[in-house]
Amino acid sequence: MKVFVTGGAGFIGSAFVRLLLGSSRPDAKRPSLVVNFDKLTYAGNLENLAPVADDARYRFVHGDICDAALVNQAIAETEPDVIVNFAAESHVDRSILSPAPVFETNLRGTFTLLEAARLHKTPRFLHVSTDEVYGSIPVPDDADEDYPLRASSPYSASKAGSDLLALSYFVTYGMPVMVTRASNNYGPYQFPEKLIPLMISNAMEDQPLPIYGDGMQVRDWLYVDDHCRAILAVIERGRAGEIYNVGGSRSLPNLEVVERILDTVGKPHSLMQTVKDRPGHDRRYALSTEKLLHETGWQAEMPFEAGLRTTIDWYRANAAWTARVKSGEYQSYYQRNYANRAV
Ligand code: NAD
Ligand code: TYD
Repeated sequence: MKVFVTGGAGFIGSAFVRLLLGSSRPDAKRPSLVVNFDKLTYAGNLENLAPVADDARYRFVHGDICDAALVNQAIAETEPDVIVNFAAESHVDRSILSPAPVFETNLRGTFTLLEAARLHKTPRFLHVSTDEVYGSIPVPDDADEDYPLRASSPYSASKAGSDLLALSYFVTYGMPVMVTRASNNYGPYQFPEKLIPLMISNAMEDQPLPIYGDGMQVRDWLYVDDHCRAILAVIERGRAGEIYNVGGSRSLPNLEVVERILDTVGKPHSLMQTVKDRPGHDRRYALSTEKLLHETGWQAEMPFEAGLRTTIDWYRANAAWTARVKSGEYQSYYQRNYANRAV
C-alpha cells in the first residue's frame, strides 16, 4: 500500500506516519511508501519524524495543499492507494484571532486535494475531522454521526464545511471518501497551544495556568495512538461515503484535567489562574462511537491516567523540543491570546 499523508509533520499526522512505518505492525500490513506532504506552518515540525526520517519507504514533500499544481504533481508521482488528509489549521483560539488561514487551508486546501484525487482516481480518501462540528452537546446526549452540525468557531465551521465537501464527492462523483470525527487528542509531540501540553509546559516552568471561565467545560479525551489506530481501521474496514466518530470515552471537566496535571508534575493548584472565557466556547463534547466499534471492532485502549502519565513523562524528557517550539512565533501568539484576559 502507498499512503499519501498531508499534515504529517503535525501532532496527529506524525504519530500516524510513525505508526505506519513502525515495527509494531505486521510486515504484510506495512506500506511500501509513505509520502508526507506538509507546508511546515508553525505547527509542522520535522523533528517529530526523526524516528522514521531515514526509512527508505518515507518521503517528504514541502508544499501547501492549496497549491493545485504541486498537489497534482505529488499525487501523480506517488499514485497512492489512499490519501489521508490531516493538514489543517487546527486550533480554535488561533481561528478566533485570525480566521483567514483557517478557511484557506481547511476549505480550499481540502477542495484542492479532492480535485486531485478525482483527477488521479485515487482508490481511497480519508478526511480527518473533529467532533467540534456538532457544537456543544447538551446532557445527556452523545452525538452519533447523524447529529446536527452546529459549529461554533471559525475552526469548527471550516471543518464542518470540509466534511460536507468531501462527502459531496462521494455522492456526486462516486469517489470513495470517508470522514472520521475524533474527540480531543492528547499525547507526545502536541504543540503547546492546546490544553494538555500548554498546562504541562506552564506547570513545569512555574508559569500561571490560564483557565477559561469556570473551567467546567467537558471534553472527551482520546490518546493520539488510539486515534491513529482508528484511522487505520477505517481505511482497512470502513465503508466509502461514511462518517465515523472516534472518541476516547473519557469525559472530564477541564479543571479536573488541569488539577491532575499539577498533581503529577508536583506543582501547587495555586498556579491555576481564571481568565476571561473564550468567545463562543462550547460547553460539552460527547460522542457515540458505536458505529466504529460495530463496523471495525476498534476501541480506545489507553486509559486516561496512563496516557496522561506517559504524556507528562514525554514532556519532561523532551524539554528541549518544547523550548524550541515555544521560541519565536509562539511568544507573540501567547501575548495575543492571553494578554488583556485578566478577570
Ligand atoms: P497540527 O496543528 O498539530 O498539525 C497540522 C499540520 O498540518 C502541520 O504539520 C502543518 O504544517 C500542516 N499544514 C497546515 N496547513 C497546511 C497546508 N496549507 N498545506 C500543507 N500542510 C499544512 O494539527 P493536529 O492536532 O495534528 O490535527 C490534525 C488533524 O486532525 C486536523 O485536520 C484536525 O482538524 C484534526 N483533529 C485534531 C484533533 C486534536 O485534538 N488535535 C481532534 C480531532 C481532529
Ligand atoms: P483546546 O485544547 O484548545 O481544544 P478545543 O477547544 O478544540 O476543545 O481546549 C480544550 C479545553 O480547554 C477547552 O474547553 C478550552 C480550554 N482551555 C483553557 O481553559 N485554557 C487554555 O489556555 C486553553 C488552550 C484551553
